[in-house]
Amino acid sequence: MGTLIRGGTIVTASDVMTADVLIENGKITHIGERILSIGHEMIDATGCYLFPGGVDPHTHLDMPFGGTITADDFQTGTIAAAFGGTTTIVDFALHQKGDTLANSLQTWHEKAEGKAAIDYSFHMMVGYMREAVMNEIPHLVEKEGIMSFKVFLAYKNNLQVDDETLFRVLQKAAKCGALVQVHAENGDVIDVLVKDALAKGKTEPKYHALTRPPEAEGEATARAIRLAEIAGAPLYIVHVTCAQASDAISEARKRGLPIYGETCPQYLVCDVSDYERPGFEGAKYVMSPPLREKWHQEVLWNRLRNLELQVLGSDQCSFNFKGQKELGRNDFTKIPNGAPTIENRMSILYHCGVNEGRIGLTKFVALTSTNAAKLFGLFPEKGTIAVGSDGDIVIWDPETEWTISSKTHHMNVDYNPFEGMKVKGKPKCVLLRGQVIVEHDRFTGKPGMGQFLRAKPFSQVDV
Ligand code: URP
Ligand code: ZN
Ligand code: ZN
Repeated sequence: MGTLIRGGTIVTASDVMTADVLIENGKITHIGERILSIGHEMIDATGCYLFPGGVDPHTHLDMPFGGTITADDFQTGTIAAAFGGTTTIVDFALHQKGDTLANSLQTWHEKAEGKAAIDYSFHMMVGYMREAVMNEIPHLVEKEGIMSFKVFLAYKNNLQVDDETLFRVLQKAAKCGALVQVHAENGDVIDVLVKDALAKGKTEPKYHALTRPPEAEGEATARAIRLAEIAGAPLYIVHVTCAQASDAISEARKRGLPIYGETCPQYLVCDVSDYERPGFEGAKYVMSPPLREKWHQEVLWNRLRNLELQVLGSDQCSFNFKGQKELGRNDFTKIPNGAPTIENRMSILYHCGVNEGRIGLTKFVALTSTNAAKLFGLFPEKGTIAVGSDGDIVIWDPETEWTISSKTHHMNVDYNPFEGMKVKGKPKCVLLRGQVIVEHDRFTGKPGMGQFLRAKPFSQVDV
């Protein structure tokens, strides 16, 4: 018996059409008009869009960071993702000094297995350089299904690596079909600005933003792009927040370089004024890079519209306000960086993008699903609705109006950075490999049903 989705409007990154979809044994086997329903379970999707399940390529679940550990683990984080329409995540396996990549990967497998409710893959963060570590990279690509490696140019004395390490990782990646990702902020400059601020007694959350100016992001982005160019490697810039960084990406792409960029919902709808919220509320918005002045948002929207930025990731990295964000009450540098965003990524792009006329439906799908699947070696099993692809489908009701709130969200965290935002459009039903995992605001899947996805090596894709 299969699952037949009847009467929805299918949206892919290239087309919009009304047709039925049949899923059998987890795969889409037939797309067409009036597919016979005999012997199949039928779901009526009249009036709804069928989007490919969202692919969120930027999550931090169960991750130690900033002296604490993220509030969401693979169980709560992936269930929340499913409620928002995401059926695949790519989480960052943290590599710490002294450890091997293989061991770090094993740790992440143990965190996810038995808990993940949606499918998942991993990126590997490279925390430090040693010949042996560099030599593990081809092994991970060929044998372990890990094709992307991330380095940080910020978080000095912690995760930050120097240019030599970035360059060596780029060289290695270029040779073995890996994609390098970079957190692009100039950590050395930020460190000086932070020390200056603290010396003057400037300890409130707003100084997090004031000590991490957009120029520091623009500089690091342009530098990483130049190093990738010398190494002949493709490069993906995570969480782009500002004109300076996105200009550098656009300029490189105009020169024909394989440079890709991602932004996140928080940078599209929240801004630097959120740090001025009364009391210590600004801490809820402490993330890196920080929120920017509002005018940057229209630059990011234009870049999404033109696909000069190709992906919307969540950068889910949740910490409770009580007991975690509060660690930095007297010093903004002690506020754990990050925000809970995995659940509302698609709704925010749909509402502020599609409903408000900034992007069309096919671009919505490209940005929330297809492009990430292509870049991170998961396409065409993930990221599209096509015969042979996995039956990961979001039945999206475009008419439901609702209000984002921590009172109703499913993330394991005591606030929502988008609290009170009214949006129109919501998943009515979410299927993972043909199984209904969310229906009418109820989770019907099971923790542990998510499968690890071995990513294919990077190949230049048309995104
Ligand atoms: O503040 C953030 N973004 N926290 C997560 C770690 C990172 O830099 O992506
Ligand atoms: Zn980052
Ligand atoms: Zn991140």
